[in-house]
Amino acid sequence: MKAISGKARLAGVMGWPVNHSLSPRLHGYWLETLDIDGAYVPLAVAPDNAADAIAILPKLGFRGLNVTVPYKETAMGCVDSLDDLARRIGAVNTIIYDEDGYSHGTNTDGFGFIENIRQHAPDYDFSSGPVIVLGAGGAARAVIVALMDAGAPEVRVTNRTLERAEVLAAHTGNGGDIKVLPWEQRNDALVDAALLVNTTTLGMTGQRALDIELQQLPTGACVTDIVYAPLETPLLADARERGNIVVDGIGMLLHQARPGFKAWFGEDPDVSEALRAHVLETR
Ligand code: ATR
Repeated sequence: MKAISGKARLAGVMGWPVNHSLSPRLHGYWLETLDIDGAYVPLAVAPDNAADAIAILPKLGFRGLNVTVPYKETAMGCVDSLDDLARRIGAVNTIIYDEDGYSHGTNTDGFGFIENIRQHAPDYDFSSGPVIVLGAGGAARAVIVALMDAGAPEVRVTNRTLERAEVLAAHTGNGGDIKVLPWEQRNDALVDAALLVNTTTLGMTGQRALDIELQQLPTGACVTDIVYAPLETPLLADARERGNIVVDGIGMLLHQARPGFKAWFGEDPDVSEALRAHVLETR
């Protein structure tokens, strides 16, 4: 790790626990390769202290913060201002402190999701057809808001707990076309899809595989998974075998980090193969 000076710029990631976070390794790589005098540290903050930590960090000279599980929703109520994206997604993952110490919350998860597809499926046109989103948790909200902003003509959300998908559609819909479907209809919903996105935890190491039949999915459709452990989930393996374009989930994590890094450290970093390999090396 590079030595820093007394003028080093500071940022970090706050979570509980935080020891699994890949963000210190990710930002650390950029700081080192771009030769920036700065540090990005893991901040394990217990639940009772989360609001205090967000308020105190600018007084310690921090320029900003990533917020991860379980604080993305909590952080919304702890910042001095929230941008429109964070409000629509209903969560904050990036905080920027200004020169006066005021905190500004935004959400870059949707940006990361879109940029990952742009990088790995450059011919995919977001306005080309319906998108099927499996799941209705926090990750799904960021993905759906981003898809609507990118011009998706229709988003079909299906979730094991139907009510959760209905609440999500009501919250994020405003004008966009979101259809909610029962989980049992997930196979039929694929019939004219241009993009299929898994935002559930199914397929993750230690979890069971996602139970879905891809027969009705057009072979020209793109398939992506926000799960990145393993990198090739059973869903992506199935889709690849039948000829679909597949995009794995690690790139969403890499790209969502770019806006924060730019704001805190002043440079727009690259998401390269070398970065990807470096971040994946630890797993
Ligand atoms: P996040 O905020 O990271 O998206 P989450 O809120 O825990 O995480 O959401 C996990 C998603 O995986 C949810 O859509 C969840 O469905 P429910 O809303 O019905 O809980 C989905 N999920 C988890 N286990 C599942 C299972 N065995 N079958 C189907 N969906 C599952």
